[in-house]
Amino acid sequence: NEIKIFSPATVANVACGFDVLGFCLDTIGDEMVIRKTTEKGIKITKIVGADLPFETDKNVASVSALALYNDANPDCGFEIEIYKNIKPGSGIGSSSASAAGSVFAINELLGRPYNQTQLTNFAMKGEAIASGCEHADNIAPALFGGFTLVKSTSPLQVLQLPTPEDLFVTIIHPQIEVKTSEARAILPKQIPLQNAITQWSNVGSLVHALHTNDYNLLSQSLNDVVVEPYRSQLIPHFDSVKTEVIKAGALGAGISGSGPSIFALSKNKNTAENVAKAMTSIYAKTDINYITYVS
Ligand code: HSE
Repeated sequence: NEIKIFSPATVANVACGFDVLGFCLDTIGDEMVIRKTTEKGIKITKIVGADLPFETDKNVASVSALALYNDANPDCGFEIEIYKNIKPGSGIGSSSASAAGSVFAINELLGRPYNQTQLTNFAMKGEAIASGCEHADNIAPALFGGFTLVKSTSPLQVLQLPTPEDLFVTIIHPQIEVKTSEARAILPKQIPLQNAITQWSNVGSLVHALHTNDYNLLSQSLNDVVVEPYRSQLIPHFDSVKTEVIKAGALGAGISGSGPSIFALSKNKNTAENVAKAMTSIYAKTDINYITYVS
């Protein structure tokens, strides 16, 4: 009647795949405890580690849970406890972890009536109140695991992509505020054809690189000519971080989701640790606080 789950952090976009590509982290995430109650309805009873709303219609975890609950119409209710390790507004899928976690756990407690695609649809309802639009590039990897490509949101179609075994990610979260809604508002509505060509060639080759374990091709594909030129201006020292992580051996780097976190992919853990040092050496010289992760 009770389940404790780990709900992973995720990196959306993966440089070239704005709103479609994402991957999940296997060691960084929130914990949640979900419990069946005789009283009907959805209630958030505990939030540790972040200042988030308890009201059922305002918290992404309960909004997502309610979408599932109203569809399933079970003979019981659920209480949700959230233990946040992922800082809201960090760009590594904090709201998606809460949204995906609550629907995953309730589905387990109900005997798994829904598949991952249906769960993603429910979780998108919660994500929408956090970011102002329904996109699934953080939720899909949190629920499916590994790398995912959201082929379409309406109807929802998620493709699972393979993850090369030695792939590690390093993330630095400079603690400045970048709102997803603002980071979306600054993007141009139209892009030059030449940039579109570069971008879809990168998305295609990145997907091919994941399927063939081709780290060189993966490295060549980790570029974003559409979104990064605009959003990088919101992240102090972004260009120096990118230059330094490449020198430290990373395959490539980019903005994690809508920022301000920056991610870099590396071929092994040792390189990923060196990349973490390169990232921290830049922010250590500034008055910006930061957290780094290797996963
Ligand atoms: N794809 C989304 C964006 C992810 O970049 O705006 C952030 O929620």
